[in-house]
Amino acid sequence: MDYISDSVLSKKQKKYLEDLKKDIRSKMYPELYRHSISTLKFAEELAGIYIFTSSNKKSSMIESFFKLCISCILHDYGKIFRYEELVKIAKDEKIAGSEFELNSPSLIHSFAGPYLVKRDFDIIDEEILNSIKFHTVGYYNMSINDKILYISDKLEENRKYDRLENLRKLSRENIDLCLLEVYKSNIIYVLNRNKLLYPETSRIWNNICGGK
Ligand SMILES: [Fe+2]
Repeated sequence: MDYISDSVLSKKQKKYLEDLKKDIRSKMYPELYRHSISTLKFAEELAGIYIFTSSNKKSSMIESFFKLCISCILHDYGKIFRYEELVKIAKDEKIAGSEFELNSPSLIHSFAGPYLVKRDFDIIDEEILNSIKFHTVGYYNMSINDKILYISDKLEENRKYDRLENLRKLSRENIDLCLLEVYKSNIIYVLNRNKLLYPETSRIWNNICGGK
């Protein structure tokens, strides 16, 4: 485990995370497991910069960091389920907010994530569930943990696309600017492929730009 986890988490917290990793390793295909762990690794680095700051209270930093680790490990848990299965769960449990979410194979794993994580891991913490739910599309007024997960998911070491090194550098210098650039890249990616844009995107984009 990384140096931050090693030095700040309690024995019990470390054991919980190790058990969680073992558990998902047995459930996920290797590539997805590797991505989840690399997302955690990148997030730990950003946590060292943005969570463990002198202005935060130590106990709240550790609690926040522990939640971040859980969100990272489980953020793509929904991907181990087939699309049809996720649609059925979303309909049965009324967890998709709109038809758009229901009809989007690339988004539904995140919207179904909170339900699945609650059901299979007994996790009920709203901050963790929220980070997982919106790690694909972001949302209005993201917390520092939400931002770190959103960015780490897209910039972890296994990802490969143009400008990645620049974005990684930016993430260490200014997380808000990095969020803006990563969010912008996602919008451009969707538009360039003539795909449907998540309806909340303009509101989230305005918020990330510092607007209302
Ligand atoms: Fe992911």
